[in-house]
Amino acid sequence: MKLVLASRNEKKLKEMNEILSGMGVEVCLQSEVGAAVEVEETGNTFEENSLLKAKAVLQATGLPAIADDSGLCVEALNGAPGIYSARYGGEGLDDAGRYRLLLANMPKGQARAAKFVSVITCCFPNGDVLTARGECPGTIAFAPMGEEGFGYDPVFFLPNLKKTFAQLSPDEKNAVSHRGKALADFGEKLRLYLKMAR
Ligand code: IMP
Repeated sequence: MKLVLASRNEKKLKEMNEILSGMGVEVCLQSEVGAAVEVEETGNTFEENSLLKAKAVLQATGLPAIADDSGLCVEALNGAPGIYSARYGGEGLDDAGRYRLLLANMPKGQARAAKFVSVITCCFPNGDVLTARGECPGTIAFAPMGEEGFGYDPVFFLPNLKKTFAQLSPDEKNAVSHRGKALADFGEKLRLYLKMAR
């Protein structure tokens, strides 16, 4: 089954295919089916934004569409950057600019607990919707470490593994990450859904 991804983020696409290809699902970019949908993320939750994105791509392409809305929630910052993770610090910053700003904004002497959240939504042409959520707890490192991954990976530290996300191989990250968990749950829901539809 082919699903169109409501994102231009090729790193997300890669992570999704690494996990879903084993389930007979192929995820492709919108550009591959000639679509270029820009969705304004006006929701107040990961769930709302994930649904907005998947719905918009389904409407534009007529094909089953999948979206991931994800972000980093830091306890000492009252859950920020949260749903605003991609836009933290404004348009002018790149990934490194955003995680440096986050490090600078961490209150001194406070706990550094954080979690990554991913909400996967898949919208089908018949109106059916599947949703799955995954979370990964960790802490904010004191300095960036590692070269793998994307986004805030270099500053998201896993105390159990004593490594940041950016120090893990793709398989190691997928095994513990928010997106890995959400996609595993989604894969199971999709399997049951397709079985019922037969
Ligand atoms: P979205 O495309 O609106 O869902 O934005 C998600 C943002 O959260 C990304 O641009 C990253 O900054 C951050 N993010 C989400 N998942 C990850 C991850 O696995 N590693 C690092 N940063 C992530």
